[in-house]
Amino acid sequence: MKQKSSLILLILLFVTNLYSSNKMNDEEYDKFILGRSFFTIPWVEAPSATTARDGLGPLFNANTCIGCHPNLGRGTLYNTSNNASKSLIPKLSIKSNNTNLHKGILAHEGSIANPIYGGQIAISSINNVPYEAKVNIDFKKIKLLFDEEEHFIYKPKYSLINLNYGELHKDTNITYRLAPTLYGLGLISQVDENEILKNVDEYDVNHDGISGKANFVYSKITQKKELGRYTYKASVAFLKEQVANAAFNDMGLSSSIHQGENCTSFQKECNDAPKSKDALDITDERLDAITFYLENLPSYDPTKGKLYEKGIAVFSKASCTSCHIPSLKNKSGEEIYTFSDLLLHDMGEGLSDGRSEFMALESEFRTAPLWGFKTEKKEYRLLHDGRAKTFEEAILWHGGEANSAKESYIALNKKDKKLLLEFLKGL
Ligand code: HEC
Ligand code: HEC
Repeated sequence: MKQKSSLILLILLFVTNLYSSNKMNDEEYDKFILGRSFFTIPWVEAPSATTARDGLGPLFNANTCIGCHPNLGRGTLYNTSNNASKSLIPKLSIKSNNTNLHKGILAHEGSIANPIYGGQIAISSINNVPYEAKVNIDFKKIKLLFDEEEHFIYKPKYSLINLNYGELHKDTNITYRLAPTLYGLGLISQVDENEILKNVDEYDVNHDGISGKANFVYSKITQKKELGRYTYKASVAFLKEQVANAAFNDMGLSSSIHQGENCTSFQKECNDAPKSKDALDITDERLDAITFYLENLPSYDPTKGKLYEKGIAVFSKASCTSCHIPSLKNKSGEEIYTFSDLLLHDMGEGLSDGRSEFMALESEFRTAPLWGFKTEKKEYRLLHDGRAKTFEEAILWHGGEANSAKESYIALNKKDKKLLLEFLKGL
């Protein structure tokens, strides 16, 4: 009993702290709590007595947002039964055949979905509807020699098994994406567009080997091209739009941004499944509340001190700061410690996932913001497909424009390497 009341006190303290630090008024606080509830509470299939949160599926990957973004942080690669975790999403696309139809899809969606399975593989489904497939994880071990020692990195050999709607078309590209951390998203939305665009150097005019390219993407909200900020290839412009994409693609929940069911015309059981009573599974009010919740998550600054000062010196000596620039200014001129320029960079063959999204090419990714490591609670993974277990492995996969930074890392003495890795842990 005593333990329980101290836990309640702790939660209260946390909530009050958040409340006062973000200076929310009562109305905003209610919106924050509403958003949090829709982010955490499991959705159920329709029809159900609890129409407030039915409409899950028919095809889906998880029934809550938090199921893939545990503690709002990075996803795990394996689940407790040692199979692929639901946080890992297989995304599908096919090559454009240059017809006007495909050109139109590319302009609005950024990539062309597989006609039978759609743009994403659903590993789960409601009753009487076959799920699409499951993911199998395997790695090829690669040995590297430096500092007179052997080091290992692991090349993913992920594949789809139990394909329930037939073989994949041979021209289908599959990319695997691990759920990223959601802390700091509000800060990303506060960065002024010009602050991001000023670092663009698409044709490397200054000859430093680093280009930096903005992704301009079609927004379903404004119905025009906008600067992309969200997801691994920066292919989504606004947080609200990404919340709607996640709800629809990952959970099968419709909204004003994505109407109807997430089934292709080849999926009969999916199309015939019972519908929820309400036209939209998530109303605009709820979509706004989830977005507001994510925007107002407590974000943090890096722990500054001796270790930070020494670490950042090594980090910049190894020219990590060419892409992971320490801070960007928000609209009020305050520094936001993204450790990212939020631009796309060519990361080389080793990381390429064969998929382009709007202007982002196969081997291009948004510089990963380096933050939130100190708050991670579970065994999280790094890089877009979760292949790296450690910071060192993540660095050793850097290629393309980041190749010379990787070489600089390898050339550091052991003491500096350790300083750099400890520094990252504190972000
Ligand atoms: C099945 C797992 C899964 C579920 C469920 C899920 N997500 Fe995600 N989320 C991901 C993955 C994987 C990505 C990376 C997508 C990409 O880059 O293509 C992602 C990306 C995001 C991003 C972009 C982060 C960034 O750094 O740009 C946001 C925001 C987000 N999710 C919010 C949500 C919300 C809100 C929900 C619930 C409505 C949700 N997610 C449900 C797996 C999931
Ligand atoms: C040319 C730009 C560039 C340079 C230079 C660069 N990085 Fe990166 N970094 C990226 C991109 C892009 C990603 C995301 C790649 C992915 O997800 O596959 C990334 C990812 C990472 C990650 C994984 C983060 C996560 O949450 O998954 C770490 C850690 C990292 N970089 C550290 C470093 C360090 C340390 C250096 C210097 C030795 C460095 N990077 C230099 C562009 C760069």
